[in-house]
Amino acid sequence: MSEPVIANRKPYYQELKQGRRYYWCSCGHSTRQPFCDGSHKGTGFEPVEYVAREAGEEVLFCGCKHTKDRPFCDGTHNNLPGGYAEDDPNSPENRAIPVVPTQEGPTAMLDGGCYVFSLDKAEYKTKGNFRYCRVISEAQGARYQSLFYGEIDAGASPIMGFGDRHVILFLAQGTGTVTISGREISAGTGDGVYVRPGEAFQVTPSGDAPVRLFISACPAAGEPEWRETMPDKFDAAIPRRVVGIDPARRQAMAARYFQMLVDKSIGSDVVTQFIGHIPKSKAEPHRHLYEEALIILSGEGMMWTETRKAPVKGGDVIFLPRKQLHSLEATAEAGMDVVGVIYPGDNPSINY
Ligand code: FES
Repeated sequence: MSEPVIANRKPYYQELKQGRRYYWCSCGHSTRQPFCDGSHKGTGFEPVEYVAREAGEEVLFCGCKHTKDRPFCDGTHNNLPGGYAEDDPNSPENRAIPVVPTQEGPTAMLDGGCYVFSLDKAEYKTKGNFRYCRVISEAQGARYQSLFYGEIDAGASPIMGFGDRHVILFLAQGTGTVTISGREISAGTGDGVYVRPGEAFQVTPSGDAPVRLFISACPAAGEPEWRETMPDKFDAAIPRRVVGIDPARRQAMAARYFQMLVDKSIGSDVVTQFIGHIPKSKAEPHRHLYEEALIILSGEGMMWTETRKAPVKGGDVIFLPRKQLHSLEATAEAGMDVVGVIYPGDNPSINY
């Protein structure tokens, strides 16, 4: 059997009818993409049947025909020749897109509820020695996740929880102990930490060096629930809770790369955290089926939507609703380092 033909370098978005049988073209020859029209006869390829599980089910059927998750896109198209297209930020169309005027507050609004939030303009609250601000919430338009940024200069933070939400921490600076429902875990800069639904946690910096961290709660949650005492119901079925940066685990996405931090490999099935690098470039505008929080760790650039763009720099966070057309441009020679949290989803390389 020879290689399939690349019908399209991106997946096909489809909304399905519950119970209906769909036959995905695997050979790439069909003229009814992404579906079979019988053209595979004699090629050795067979169509792949998929029965829709629910009304209006949204799927991305693979167009490049090289996926390992047939019939769905798994991001393989990004690494095919020409699969991850770039865009010219200086094209006449792009030059006509205005920059969002400088804001008094922390939020620069783009199209479709997408925004850039600058931590250096945020209003902070305090709870004991914990100084924090809300970056993403339902009140700010999110449907699937909340994000807080917090700082602890010294000593144990208050004990906090988010009810039955999945909670993922990212330590942007500092080292210390994260106590999760009674279990003490060491973590440092660049680590992702997973707190299971129903658990509570507390962060204690090592020595005098402060800890700066991001806290994601999924699905979206309100304020942290402050606890007087540490519960002892650590979920021992998932003992591994910290995932650090490991260059050996990087996955290429054209000239970009990413590495999974907290993900399904340690029990986080619906929310996924990754760290990644974007070289100086502007991606072609695209969409995702997941809602995303993108923390800019270093570098600078521009976040683009259809009719607006906003500058971004280290310390900013981008909130990206599902299906919103967008493009992130890294403008510094050294590129941009980011941490993303996506929900619902387990693969940040799937785009359409
Ligand atoms: S379109 Fe084939 S893997 Fe994405």
